Amino acid sequence: MQKFVEVLPDKQHLIARARALVVQKIQAAIEQRSLCTIALAGGSTPKPLYEALSEQSLPWEKIHVFWGDERYVSPDHPDSNQKMAREAWLDRVNIPSTNIHPMPTGAGKPAVDTDTHETELRTFFGVASPEFPVFDIILLGMGDDGHTASLFPHTEALGVRDRLVTVGNKSGQPRLTFTVPLINNARCVMFLVAGENKQSALKEIFATSANENNYPARLIEPQGEIWWLLDEAAGAAVNN
Ligand code: 6PG
Repeated sequence: MQKFVEVLPDKQHLIARARALVVQKIQAAIEQRSLCTIALAGGSTPKPLYEALSEQSLPWEKIHVFWGDERYVSPDHPDSNQKMAREAWLDRVNIPSTNIHPMPTGAGKPAVDTDTHETELRTFFGVASPEFPVFDIILLGMGDDGHTASLFPHTEALGVRDRLVTVGNKSGQPRLTFTVPLINNARCVMFLVAGENKQSALKEIFATSANENNYPARLIEPQGEIWWLLDEAAGAAVNN
C-alpha cells in the first residue's frame, strides 16, 4: 500500500485537488486498460467534486460508474446517493446508461438486493468467488464517528470477508455497502474529508493504534494507493 496525505487550505482547494487527481487516475486507467471503473462515495462532501467532473471532457463511454454504498431508499428519494451523483454529474454528461451501475434497492429486502448487486459485479468484472474484482478508483468519505461507506462502528458488516457487497446498518437504518476486502482490492482508494467535526475521528484513524471496531476507516488498507485529501479544518491534528 502506498499512502498519500494532503491537507488543503479549505474545502474548495480540496475539491480542486480531488478533481485533478480523479481525472489523472481515470485517464491512466483508460490508457492502461481501455476502461476505468470508479465507485462513488455518498454523503455531501463529494457533491462539488461530481459537479466539477461533469465539466470535464472525458471519454465517458470508457468509464463505468458504481457506488460504494447506498441508503436503502428508492433512486428518487432525497437521501439516495445515486440521485445525488446523477443530478450533480451523470445526467450532465454523455455517458451511456449501461455504464452506470447503481446499487439496487427495490427488492424490499436489503439482503436480496446485495445478492443481486454481488452477481452484477461478478458478471461485469468476470470474477468468480472467492476472487475479488479490482476497481480502478474507489472514492470514500468518512463520518465523524470514523465510519466509511456504510461500514459503521460495531456492526456485522465490518467483519464480512467473503462477499463483495453486504448489508450495512446505520442506527437501525439498512444500507448496502462494499465490504472491506472489496475496497482493499482497489488500485486507488481516495478519501475526501472536510470539516472540523471530522478532526477527532481522523486523529484516531491516523493514530498508531486504535480499535478498528470503533473507527472502521482504519480497516481500509488497499493493495494499491490510498489518498487522504483533507481540508485544514479536518486535518489540523493529522501529522502527515
Ligand atoms: C453515505 C456515505 C458515507 C459518507 C460519510 C461522510 O452514504 O453517507 O457514503 O460514508 O461518505 O458519512 O458524509 P459527509 O460527506 O456528508 O460528511
